[in-house]
Amino acid sequence: MKIAVAGTGYVGLSVALLLAQHDEVHALDIIAQKVEMLNQGRSPIVDREITEFLDGDATGQRPLNFTATLDPAQAYAGADYAIIATPTNYDPQKNYFDTSSVESAIDAIRAVNGDAWIVIKSTVPVGYTQHLRETLGDGRILFSPEFLREGHALYDNLHPSRIVVGAPRSDAPAWAAANHFAELLARGADPAEEERTNEDGSRGIPQLVVGPTEAEAIKLFANTYLALRVAYFNELDTYADSRGLNSQEIIRGVCLDPRIRDNYNNPSFGYGGYCLPKDTKQLLANYSKVPQNLISAIVDANRTRKDFIATEIERRIEGIARPVVGIYRLTMKSGSDNFRASAIQGIMKRVKARGVSAIVYEPTLDAPDFFGSEVTHDLVSFKRRADVIVANRWNADLDDVADKVFTRDLFKRD
Ligand SMILES: NC(=O)c1ccc[n+]([C@@H]2O[C@H](COP(=O)([O-])OP(=O)(O)OC[C@H]3O[C@@H](n4cnc5c(N)ncnc54)[C@H](O)[C@@H]3O)[C@@H](O)[C@H]2O)c1
Repeated sequence: MKIAVAGTGYVGLSVALLLAQHDEVHALDIIAQKVEMLNQGRSPIVDREITEFLDGDATGQRPLNFTATLDPAQAYAGADYAIIATPTNYDPQKNYFDTSSVESAIDAIRAVNGDAWIVIKSTVPVGYTQHLRETLGDGRILFSPEFLREGHALYDNLHPSRIVVGAPRSDAPAWAAANHFAELLARGADPAEEERTNEDGSRGIPQLVVGPTEAEAIKLFANTYLALRVAYFNELDTYADSRGLNSQEIIRGVCLDPRIRDNYNNPSFGYGGYCLPKDTKQLLANYSKVPQNLISAIVDANRTRKDFIATEIERRIEGIARPVVGIYRLTMKSGSDNFRASAIQGIMKRVKARGVSAIVYEPTLDAPDFFGSEVTHDLVSFKRRADVIVANRWNADLDDVADKVFTRDLFKRD
């Protein structure tokens, strides 16, 4: 079977390599440099399993049927499935996701292939797939949400928490294709997952084939719950810090309740990364005319938290003539290789808006400045020059200047 994938980012590349274990996969991107790297067996993103798969393919130890291309005809013509994993950034003007890259991928697929089952893996507004099916008069469009974490993109596809595919139950061919696609994803997973026992007592990887709109809602409600959890422990931390209480002790005591659980509870400067900020805003937009309190609170809580953090930083530089705030890493998590929408950028923006100058230590950024602030790769001089060092996540690099560091990474983990 031939499978095409549009977009070779975190989602597209991990799904492409997963499926290339069993099927012929052609992954298309619009960036020539990415395509070239992939065809040389090199990963454009930092991800252990993706690198291992590409290395294994290059050395013949793990043969994959995988090609990257810039040519839509090569990728899409004759494909049985065409998966779309292109960006859907939040458009603040429209107050909605910008889905234009998904639509241009659909146009490119249909220009050479009228039959492929198109599976949208990009995160889209609730109701989007059904709307497309109706307005385009194209019943061969499905939606399958992606739940991977950046940095563990292929790992999470090899060990998926669940597989969800959306198609209208009333449309028998689409329903059958959705079930078949779920099987393809499951077949690519680590075979050990077939033996696993889930919390509800079921065995193997849970596969949910549901309506397309329900599948879209699963994605946005899951990410909004994760944002809620981050925002909740951040707000607990804001309270504890403001009242001079030991936040760490409170969080431990709260989370020993097995219903609450001791995970995903480490305070930070806010929820960030590519998905949570935009997905929560999109869900809020989808609530238009539907009563709610929590969803807007989750969106607002992130702003309030960052304002609080910026004020705390300001308190630490009070009385210093021409203070310099050192931004230690722009990334969201310790092992991350990108800083799309990272919370620390919101902190930096606020600190600078208050007239304070900042320097940035970000070894992965090859540029002299970041939004007008100097970028340095010299950790020693960075530590010397900064009056306060702001770190969303702790790193042993900072051990010798601990008294200068401002972080809320209380548990020293992601
Ligand atoms: N990153 C995540 O953790 C994650 C998790 C779940 C879902 N998602 C969703 O998946 C989608 C993709 O996210 P990502 O992180 O993989 O994005 P990404 O930015 O890493 O990759 C997207 C790729 O698509 C390419 N592209 C853009 N327009 C194209 C087109 N018309 N045809 C072919 N390729 C095109 C880009 O060049 C880029 O390489 C988004 O909707 C995102 O919300 C992301």
